[in-house]
Order: sequence, then C-alpha cells, then structure tokens
Amino acid sequence: MPPQGSCTVIVGCQWGDEGKGKIVDVLAEDVDIIARYQGGANAGHTVHVGEDEFILHQIPSGVLHEGKRCLLGNGVVLDIRQFFEEYDALLARGIELDGRVGVSGRAQLLLPYHRLLDKAVENAASTKIGTTGRGIGPAYEDKAGRRGLRVADLGNPDRFHKRVAAAQERVTRRLEQLGAGSSDELEAAMEEAFGLGERLLSLATDTGSEIIGALSAGKRVLLEGAQGTALDLDHGTYPFVTSSNTTAASAATGTGIGPTLIDEVVGVVKAYTTRVGEGPLPSAFSPEMDEHVRALGGEFGATTGRPRRCGWFDSVLARHAARVNGLTGLAVTKLDVLDTLSTLDVATAYRLPDGSITEDFPADTWALASGERIYETVPGWEAPTGDVQRLEDLPANARAYLDRIQELSGAPVQWVSVGTKRSQIIPVD
Ligand code: IMP
Repeated sequence: MPPQGSCTVIVGCQWGDEGKGKIVDVLAEDVDIIARYQGGANAGHTVHVGEDEFILHQIPSGVLHEGKRCLLGNGVVLDIRQFFEEYDALLARGIELDGRVGVSGRAQLLLPYHRLLDKAVENAASTKIGTTGRGIGPAYEDKAGRRGLRVADLGNPDRFHKRVAAAQERVTRRLEQLGAGSSDELEAAMEEAFGLGERLLSLATDTGSEIIGALSAGKRVLLEGAQGTALDLDHGTYPFVTSSNTTAASAATGTGIGPTLIDEVVGVVKAYTTRVGEGPLPSAFSPEMDEHVRALGGEFGATTGRPRRCGWFDSVLARHAARVNGLTGLAVTKLDVLDTLSTLDVATAYRLPDGSITEDFPADTWALASGERIYETVPGWEAPTGDVQRLEDLPANARAYLDRIQELSGAPVQWVSVGTKRSQIIPVD
C-alpha cells in the first residue's frame, strides 16, 4: 500500500540564515511530524511567537506548535548538553514536551571534545573557515572515520566508556599536535554529558520507521534542513562550507526514508543575500550599503552573534539551488527589509577571472571569489509591506521583483514573508 500522507522538505538556498525557522513555523501548523535531517547546534532558528522570541539550535523549530512530534534524524550530530539545555529551557517556558521529541538511535553524538577540537583546528589553520565553534567538523570527521559514538551506543555503558576513553586519548594527542592541550573543564563537561545519556536514550527512536509509518497512516511530515545550499559539503563554496550535506536529497538519507517519499521541496531565499563566516559572497554590497542593510535586517548570527555580510539577491546561486535541490517552490523572506530602497540590483551572471561569462554557479570557489558580477537594476517600491496579507496588495514594483526572482531562479514563489511575526506571511496561489 503506497503512503497516503505528504512529505515536504524545507531547505535553505543561500548561506543559511534565510529564515527557514519562520517558514517551518508557518508550515508546521498543518503537519504532524517535523524532523531535522543534518547539522547540529551550529544552526540557529529564530522564531517569534506573540511577544516571545525563541532561538533553537538543536531541537526543530516545529516544537513551538503544541502537540506536534519533533524528531532529530540520524544525519544530525547531537550535542547532548546543548540538546537538554534547550529542552529544559522550553519546559521552563511552559512548552509541553511529553512524548513529543524523538532522537534517532543512529544519530551521532557530539561530545565536548568535538568543540575543543573545532576551535583548536580553526586556530591552527592557515585557511580559516570561520566555523561556529560548535564542534561540527570534528563530529562529522569522526562519523566518516567510523570512530564516532551514536545515541544507541549509550545502551551499553561498558562499551561506550571504553570507546570514549579511546577517543579521549586520540583527542588529547591531536590537541597536543595543534598546540592546544586538553583541560580540566573537558573532564567536567564529559561527566555532565554522560550523566544525560540515559535521559537521551529514553527519547531514542527509529526516525525512518516513524516517518514511513506516519505517511502510510495519511499524516503530513516536514523535513527541516539547517544551513543552506551554498554551505553544502558538495555543492557549496568548498572548503568554506559546513561538514554535512544541507541539500534536499540529504533529507531522505538523514532521516532514514527513501527519496521517492518526498513530495515537495520548498527552498527558502532571503530577498537579498547574507553570509557569516569566511568565504566569498559574490554579490556583496559596498561597505556603506552593507552596514545599512545589516541594520535594517538585524543581520547578526543567531548562534555566534557575528555580523553577517550582506549583498544583492544572487540569481546564479538561486538557480543552482533550484537545480541541486529539485525545488518545487520558493519561500522569499524579509522582503520588508528592502522597503525603503529606491533601486535594487540582482546578480544575473558572473564574469570569471579568465573573462568568460557564466550563469552557472562555478565549482572553483576562488574563481568565484575574484571574478565580477553582472547585475540588472530594478526599481524599488518605497512603501511599507509589513502589514500586507495578500499578493495583490503588494506594491507593483515589489510584485515585479518577486516575478523576476521566480523567473531567474526557475522555481515558483509560494510564500512571501514580510516580517518576523507568524502572521506576517503572504501565501501565493
Ligand atoms: P560549522 O558548520 O560550524 O563548521 O561552520 C562552517 C561554516 O558554516 C561557517 O562559515 C559558518 O559560519 C557557517 N554556518 C554554520 N551554520 C550556520 C548557520 O546556521 N547559518 C549560517 N551560517 C552557518
């Protein structure tokens, strides 16, 4: 019997921070299960509910919808301490979590030494990535190196402790090589993490079976990506990327379902572009404009507080994202941030250092960094959009801007977000 429900992937199409949390929050209203499929506490989803602001790093943002089941898939690297810090903070704010959160028994554990290693590697590196310092790279290295520990391993404390002891020896040697040294704080942090093991194990589940079972029963599922396409380990601006596949195909691998179960892929793009961390931002603003839009859009990292670099909408990247993710639709966020601009530029192609012009996102990150952009200038709308509820009520130039984004990206706009509140969203038929 084929599944009857529906399965939608939400994926970032730029360098993360596109406002996926807001879109997930809106779509979560109509689904039964929300699952994260990759990344870890490097993500920072900011969601506004009424007057309250919630920043979630590890638990899916759908948790703010009463009664919905939230899962962390096998593709996630799970920071036990961060997870329970968030879990307990949600409980303290009155969010009912009983039976609502499940973690894959196959998810990798991100342990305190991964954070130490992340910082030490970054300090020692000649090409810095500008990581969030949350231990992501080292945790995925351990996974690919087949020496990681998974949630299910917590079920056998003897074996678990032996493997941790071996890992700690390895980490100590590596830290010494990097000139960083271990610390007493690490011991305490490890003890604290182990203390939470049993509690975590009590939430363990098989996310693939759960999702497939739910789909068979006619339920609706949302698979929530973290970071964005340009930070994907294969399809992004390598090496200035995160250590997981952020793109839509990973939603199947990272939760344990087959790709044929995915019905829709909604790509989230900001109406302009931002980036935090090192690496090229091809459509970067001039310094004055950068500061201006950063202030208008409140563009500071939710995880690290770092200022985000800002730039014009880059349709070369959006087209790349539409292809790599097989987008069935787009959600455009933060349109309101551009309300006061008299004209807007849209990057339509890149001129590479050898003088050739391409409309395709180049594989050579350094060529991308040093070439020139080709822009098209369109008129601004110079009117507030924050209260608009229907597409036809948007200023004509704002609608024309959205049409152009859609045309250049090759995916239809389905949602337009015009503010941080749940209500500030325009559905597009
Ligand atoms: P890592 O994922 O902490 O290893 O960082 C690798 C790169 O991805 C850095 O440039 C980070 O700034 C960036 N990054 C990681 N997570 C996010 C996110 O959630 N939003 C935006 N950038 C991110």
